Amino acid sequence: MSKEIVAMLTGTGHAVPERVLTNRQLAEMVDTSDEWIRTRTGIVERHIADDNKGTSDYAALAAKEALEEANLAPEELDLILLGTVTPDMYFPSAACFLQNKIGAVNAAALDISAACSGFLYGLTLAEGMIAAGKYKNILVIGAELLSRVTDWTDRATCVLFGDGAGAAVLQPSDGERGIIGSYIKSDGRLWQLLNMPGGGSLLPPAKAAEDPAPFHIKMEGREVFRHAVTLMGESAVHVMKAAGITGEDLDLFIPHQANLRIIQAIAKRLNIPDKKVYVNLDKYGNTSAASIPIALNEARKNGRIKPGNLILTAAFGAGFTWSSVLFRM
Ligand code: ACO
Repeated sequence: MSKEIVAMLTGTGHAVPERVLTNRQLAEMVDTSDEWIRTRTGIVERHIADDNKGTSDYAALAAKEALEEANLAPEELDLILLGTVTPDMYFPSAACFLQNKIGAVNAAALDISAACSGFLYGLTLAEGMIAAGKYKNILVIGAELLSRVTDWTDRATCVLFGDGAGAAVLQPSDGERGIIGSYIKSDGRLWQLLNMPGGGSLLPPAKAAEDPAPFHIKMEGREVFRHAVTLMGESAVHVMKAAGITGEDLDLFIPHQANLRIIQAIAKRLNIPDKKVYVNLDKYGNTSAASIPIALNEARKNGRIKPGNLILTAAFGAGFTWSSVLFRM
């Protein structure tokens, strides 16, 4: 591990809506069953946002917990990077709404659109900003209300997703702890496998009244599954090789929480034993950009991660985008 460590995580937080939607409740809405969802995905329940809340509301709760732990006042933040594909509005960014909610009056704020890889893209960009000497105190968030763009009549997708937010504060490292390796990549040729066609400049919101169908998540599940295993694996191998470590050196692997079978296939490929793989998708479903920071904060607060532990994260998402970040907590 020869690379200089420049940025470390000094606080984490997460927030999920109170309302829980179980598999059994879903089975009353579409032609599915608790058994099908559990065996094909590992998901048991997910949290669904209140109607009057936006993505930045949950992001703000997660941010406050992370700032408190980092012992940092909101005014001290230099930059806010918020990974989301479900912002409060088309514009301004959800990051600007969040900035206003937490009072981070001295920060620059922007959203990162990298779907489920959004949080790891944010960590990677924040590390670069700290390495460049440009900023010192950066808030990185993944927050998503996928329930707002879910087609609740499509059993192939509506059973998969949930809402939530997770956050981390990144600051200059003490030289021992922090980001050891990071990798981000994308391939726009694969955009058709996972997208929401409506709502952008090609099919603007005004068209939703004519045909609401394109204003929901569209996914080729099997193809996404296949690419997810390959690409998440590739990014994780890349950062582990660069750091000169193997799966056995890790204390915990936190993969994007999309499907238990994807997670198991990757862990096997990386030679990481089950007991070192963090799984919480049974409780939250796939919360896209929020899944890794929710898991990270949960694992820290429940004692699965201890100070000094070596943590590997990996994600993939629409775009396609994929990413892996290795750090010492
Ligand atoms: N309940 C019951 N049956 C269902 C359901 C359901 N909820 N959904 C699909 N089926 C049926 C299908 O209609 C099909 O029936 P048929 O054989 O009669 O045609 C059968 O189950 C098998 O369908 P598949 O799609 O082949 O099932 P598969 O085993 O591939 O599992 C799944 C589907 C869970 C979606 C899987 O492909 C998967 O997890 N893919 C990856 C999805 C993912 O990770 N997405 C991440 C998105 S990340 C982001 O950027 C937002």
